Amino acid sequence: METETLSAGTPEETKEAVREAVKLLNNGSIVALPTETVYGLAANAFNAEACAAIFEVKERPSFDPLIVHVSGKKMLDSIVDIPPDIEKTLEILIQEFWPGPLTFVLPKKNIIPDIVTSGLKTVAVRRSNNPVFSEIIQELGMPLAAPSANIFGSMSPTSASAVHTELSNRIPLIIDGGACSDGVESTIVRIESTQNSKPNIHLLRPGPVTVEMLRKFGKVLKGQDSQSKNERPNSPGQLASHYAPRTPLRILECPGDFKAEPSKSYALLSYRGQEKDGYLRIHDWKEIQILSPGSGKLPEAAVRFFFSLRKLDESGADEIIAEPIPGKGVGLAILDRLQRAAL
Ligand code: TXA
Ligand code: MG
Repeated sequence: METETLSAGTPEETKEAVREAVKLLNNGSIVALPTETVYGLAANAFNAEACAAIFEVKERPSFDPLIVHVSGKKMLDSIVDIPPDIEKTLEILIQEFWPGPLTFVLPKKNIIPDIVTSGLKTVAVRRSNNPVFSEIIQELGMPLAAPSANIFGSMSPTSASAVHTELSNRIPLIIDGGACSDGVESTIVRIESTQNSKPNIHLLRPGPVTVEMLRKFGKVLKGQDSQSKNERPNSPGQLASHYAPRTPLRILECPGDFKAEPSKSYALLSYRGQEKDGYLRIHDWKEIQILSPGSGKLPEAAVRFFFSLRKLDESGADEIIAEPIPGKGVGLAILDRLQRAAL
């Protein structure tokens, strides 16, 4: 199958791209679409066969459930049963963070096919703020199941060309909406009511909506979520090894620990490219990618993260050495992806 790429740059192009994407989605096809986090591989979430094709194209195991995207609260209400004890908190979080990179795990209605949730009674839902994505879902009038548009276990694509590298000849259409503005996948949470006034917010996957941002609204609990653990493997995310380049990757906590093997070549993933951090001069690197040159800004590092990993993977080095990233703000999400890439 030949893969067409349609640019959504100018208003005219966008109109054409939206029309084409909606036509294909209505016909049960799957289409790669831009979101603010990473590119998604989208299908009509009510169409079980189309959703099955997502798993097939991604080579994704059937036990790993998909994220469903909605166009707003009304569409959300049509696919989930919101437990009364968390309704208020959910409303506040939606008000604050939607549209945006925050995904909620909620009890699903029967209208969502089991294949979407891998048989779970809950579904992960978010509303993207990408204008092209928003137009497409509005126009379609149906929820879109969309995991990241990469082969399972590989790096998430943050540009149309990265989607092309991952999935060309497997899907009919890629909508090119430019580079993703956040660069790492959405934050996933499960809300739990408590006896006191503060609800628990279980952080199932760190992302652009940070722990610091969520703290205002409840007690943020990291680590294994006991409920989803009981339900089955997949608290989001997540299989240990994931987001990985083909080239082996190692996080080097201390530059002094580096010993090059003479026959091997190495590439460096640097946080801010500063001499004083000690990584630049320990080796004659085959390739260096700097996530946020200068003082180091975590949101900028997140935007460049998967792009830089791809560049290093393509450099032909035998191993990628990564500097550690500060584990605060969106740095927690980058570090999470980096650790899974290293396994
Ligand atoms: O930013 C994002 O969330 C991107 C864009 C495309 O929206 N999507 C994305 O989807 O990252 P994906 O499929 O790569 O990751 C979805 C994660 C999986 O790791 C899965 O385990 C988890 O969400 N998940 C989905 N449904 C779940 C559920 N009912 N309970 C717990 N985890 C769930
Ligand atoms: Mg993914």
